Amino acid sequence: MINLIAAITYYPKSDQFIIAVNGQLPHESPEDMARFTKLTSGGVVIMGRKTYETLGQALPDRTNIILSRDPMFHLSNARVARNLEEALKIAPKYSSDIWIIGGGQVYKEALEKDIPDRLYISEMRGHWEDDSEILSQGEGVLLFTAVEVRHPVQDQVVTFPRVNWEYYKALYIDQCDDHTLKILSKTSLNVL
Ligand SMILES: NC(=O)c1ccc[n+]([C@@H]2O[C@H](COP(=O)([O-])OP(=O)(O)OC[C@H]3O[C@@H](n4cnc5c(N)ncnc54)[C@H](OP(=O)(O)O)[C@@H]3O)[C@@H](O)[C@H]2O)c1
Repeated sequence: MINLIAAITYYPKSDQFIIAVNGQLPHESPEDMARFTKLTSGGVVIMGRKTYETLGQALPDRTNIILSRDPMFHLSNARVARNLEEALKIAPKYSSDIWIIGGGQVYKEALEKDIPDRLYISEMRGHWEDDSEILSQGEGVLLFTAVEVRHPVQDQVVTFPRVNWEYYKALYIDQCDDHTLKILSKTSLNVL
């Protein structure tokens, strides 16, 4: 099973879901981080080189595969793959539980190629410094304990590929009872 997991934050000023601001996550959510760890532990995580660098380390208890086109890029603590297909070929040697964990470039490619079997999307809303009022929980919107106090610099914002998100959202959405996670799966599409 190939999963894609992402936490997205709604940024109302540009009506976008963003996944990063200035190289950092645009939200803080220990709950979401704990969920991420629980879900991905024991499996294989595939990530872009920039995400690896923001983490500053390989994620423990998981096989890490880092994507880079740079032939000089090597790591002693993780596998390196030169493209997504190579990563997906390596991954099953370690676990059948495969997680594409970002960042923006990797999400975009995976979604455009329709690679994931299942999407785990945490949708966050928070207070933005430049917004006059705290966003209320909208209809059908899942609220995390996200608090945002920085103003994103537009050209440094990494956005989730919204067109594909809407596509998946329309087709595959399913909401968990605990109101913390949306699971979207092709399997559930078959029974809709
Ligand atoms: N909100 C979330 O859930 C979430 C999750 C993960 C990351 N993030 C954030 O996302 C940001 C990083 O995203 P990003 O889009 O800038 O970068 P990224 O996707 O993490 O990494 C991009 C790099 O990965 C390599 N790469 C990407 N696709 C490849 C392919 N098909 N084949 C080979 N190499 C490939 C390239 O490395 P080389 O340049 O070395 O060739 C590329 O420059 C960070 O700020 C991070 O905090 C957010």
